[in-house]
Amino acid sequence: MRILVQACIALLFATTAARTEDGLEKGRELATRMCAHCHAVGKWERSPLTNATPFRQMEARVDYDDLQRRLQDGLVAGHPAMPMFVFTAEEARALIVYLRAIRGP
Ligand code: HEC
Repeated sequence: MRILVQACIALLFATTAARTEDGLEKGRELATRMCAHCHAVGKWERSPLTNATPFRQMEARVDYDDLQRRLQDGLVAGHPAMPMFVFTAEEARALIVYLRAIRGP
């Protein structure tokens, strides 16, 4: 019985880790495909569009829980250069996982 419980706990952790990884990869893919021609989406580079905040610094400017909701409702920043996006709940979650993973200076 004890072994079974331990196995279940191990499995639970393994699937949680895998799902977070999924989110991270999906988030990276979304950011690269949809946002990278304006925002810096990696750890070091500058934004191609100088006034688009690098994603690693975004957390200082926007609340991520709020951003996750805004992505699903259709994200519009107050700038004409910024197109409108509508994300599914899963995509929005993945992008936020990615944003949290790359935060830095
Ligand atoms: C065509 C260029 C372009 C693309 C593509 C783009 N953005 Fe932006 N984004 C901008 C610009 C420019 C700003 C700055 C707007 C301002 O400060 O007025 C901005 C601002 C933002 C902000 C507000 C940040 C802040 O500093 O207040 C968020 C959040 C954001 N973008 C997320 C995204 C996401 C997520 C994607 C991809 C799904 C994306 N953007 C794609 C140009 C773009």
